[in-house]
Amino acid sequence: MKEIWSRNKEVMVMHWLISRTCHVFIILACLSTASVLAQSPPKVEVDVKEKVVKVGDPFEFVCRVARPIEYCGIKFGTTSIKIKENTKRDDLEYSGRGFQNGECGIKIYSVKENMHGNFTCTVGYPDLSLESVGLTQLTVAIPPTSIKLTTNKEEYKEGEQMVMTCSTSGARPAPTVTLFLDNNILNTSRKTSESVIFNRTASYKDNNKRLVCKATHQALSEDDVRSNEKILIVYFKPQPGEFIKTSLKEGEEGTISVDVFANPKPRFDWRINGVSPDNAAFKTVTDQEMNSDGSYRAKLLINKVTQDDLTKEFVLTATNIHGSETYRVEITFASLESEDGIGAGGIVGIIMAILITLGGVGLALFARSTGRWCFARE
Ligand SMILES: *[C@@H]1O[C@H](CO)[C@@H](O)[C@H](O)[C@H]1NC(C)=O
Ligand SMILES: *[C@@H]1O[C@H](CO)[C@@H](O)[C@H](O)[C@H]1NC(C)=O
Ligand SMILES: *[C@@H]1O[C@H](CO)[C@@H](O)[C@H](O)[C@H]1NC(C)=O
Repeated sequence: MKEIWSRNKEVMVMHWLISRTCHVFIILACLSTASVLAQSPPKVEVDVKEKVVKVGDPFEFVCRVARPIEYCGIKFGTTSIKIKENTKRDDLEYSGRGFQNGECGIKIYSVKENMHGNFTCTVGYPDLSLESVGLTQLTVAIPPTSIKLTTNKEEYKEGEQMVMTCSTSGARPAPTVTLFLDNNILNTSRKTSESVIFNRTASYKDNNKRLVCKATHQALSEDDVRSNEKILIVYFKPQPGEFIKTSLKEGEEGTISVDVFANPKPRFDWRINGVSPDNAAFKTVTDQEMNSDGSYRAKLLINKVTQDDLTKEFVLTATNIHGSETYRVEITFASLESEDGIGAGGIVGIIMAILITLGGVGLALFARSTGRWCFARE
């Protein structure tokens, strides 16, 4: 019995020895791995990876490592600065929570244009003969220096292809470029583009519209928008109009007017039943000025409107070098139309009803005050 016990003890000791050796091997393996890992410097975390600022703005960034720092250098452009925890100059100071906490950064009070580019921090350690490097990219914004609006032609004929381009230069980063036709946005640039293009088939509606190119940029204040504009010119024949009805008053002077869209300005020719208007009864007037919507107005004045005019055929022909178009006008009498819901008869009816009601109330009051009829006392 005793013998078995002691054998067991021997086996246990053997086991213990073997496992001990294994531990030693594992520890040795771990140590050698650690020494290999220690060959690469500790990783630097930078709080700001990239930033866009304007000239005069402050800029601050901090590099962080997971162990105490002994020294720290910051480089940008051709400038190289040795930073200490107590560094404080007219233009910059140390930023961070101390070398002991593994932090080194700078705060620049007022960025200058030549600071555009990469900022690097290089840190060294009291217990390691390695240096770690961190990097941040600073973009010092510059507004666009020029903004150019171009069209493939100076003037268009209806149906021609218009290619409108708005481009800027000199900005950093790219500005937002937007092309407008009057107040409608045609195209607006993505962040990476300095220009926009827009293609369109010239329509008569585009004539006289304002093509505007605007650039907004972070280095410009909100109301300091750089822009450029031009008025579009589109030539086209007189445009077909709808059938025109004119309401006139019998016995009075009347005016028939037709607005015609055309460019250049058309010639107007009136015909009444196929012949030129006779000067005694009619007068033709053409407004010299263009209407605000771009159309031109042709007018025919009738000295005295008669029943006869209802049956006449009034035809206007407008012609310019791109073509011609005819417009027929029909005359109606204003008095024969019932434009409103309540005609003259309706109004008379309402007045009568009011009078009758007032009369009834008046009679009742009279009867009551004088004690007549149904108000009579027994
Ligand atoms: C700044 O750093 C970035 C990222 O490492 C690099 O691609 C770029 O070329 C650097 N710019 C300059 C001006 O050195
Ligand atoms: C807007 O402009 C961009 C840049 O020039 C162009 O690639 C894009 O096709 C344009 N979009 C339209 C709708 O024309
Ligand atoms: C606009 O027209 C130009 C010239 O015809 C052409 O090169 C370009 O690809 C067109 N762009 C768009 C966005 O349609």
